[in-house]
Amino acid sequence: MSNKKRAIGVFDSGYGGLTILNEFLKQLPEYDFIYLGDNARSPYGTRSYDVVYDYTLQAVEQLFSMNCELVILACNTASAKALRTIQQCDLPKIDANKRVLGVIRPSVEEVGMLTITNHVGVLGTVGTVRSNSYPLEIKKLFPEIKVIQESCPMWVPLVENNEFKSEGGQHFIKKNIENLLKRDPKIDTIILGCTHYPILLDEIRKYIPLGINLISQGEIVAKSLKDYLRRHPEMDMRCTKNGDREFYTTEFVDSFEDKASRFLNKELRAKHLDY
Ligand code: DGL
Repeated sequence: MSNKKRAIGVFDSGYGGLTILNEFLKQLPEYDFIYLGDNARSPYGTRSYDVVYDYTLQAVEQLFSMNCELVILACNTASAKALRTIQQCDLPKIDANKRVLGVIRPSVEEVGMLTITNHVGVLGTVGTVRSNSYPLEIKKLFPEIKVIQESCPMWVPLVENNEFKSEGGQHFIKKNIENLLKRDPKIDTIILGCTHYPILLDEIRKYIPLGINLISQGEIVAKSLKDYLRRHPEMDMRCTKNGDREFYTTEFVDSFEDKASRFLNKELRAKHLDY
């Protein structure tokens, strides 16, 4: 095998996947990572199945062409609407040895360990909520759990535009949380089912009563990736480990670098990509 770089690809519609990458860098610092944000076409949350699937497949093929052997869809909307089809229909045609993994399954596994009342809330994009991916996955593993969902169409734009601390931003964050909790006061665990939402964590906490568990995905998905690599040594061996990071965006590089550095708490250089 050649010694060229074979990074793990991390894909999101925009900046949200950086909350997942951040945890990958903490838990798997030796691996090489390529981050791709489709900022030019974000948000995905209100787009149709076909569009999210097309955009996600394009991104995956792009990352494969950059020698990624493994791609993580660090995006719930893409995981909900595109992952299964890509895994079942596209991967066998593209390259049966490559892998694409999502963020929903690891988050669902965590739910069963935390809830006591068996009433779980999910906050997500319109696309993720309408896909019913969380209730369906939870039902498979924990049929006794009742799932209540609330879509938060304004939250991703609030993050992407850095408006979440504004009065308007606070209004929408509070409103969606109150809507969810009003519908079922027995909820004791809430999944932040969108990778953008951890950026809002301090704001979200203001409106969630103490005692309710908040599942924020970064740490969980990183733990699950680490475990996946341990269980699949053939994949682990193919991933190079020089601690190298590359960032790509479909948007303007300047604004990406500025915002992404804030989300990652470190300076970074990005490149523009058209595909
Ligand atoms: N971070 C994505 C998710 O986890 C983004 C959503 C969007 O682009 O609307 O669902």
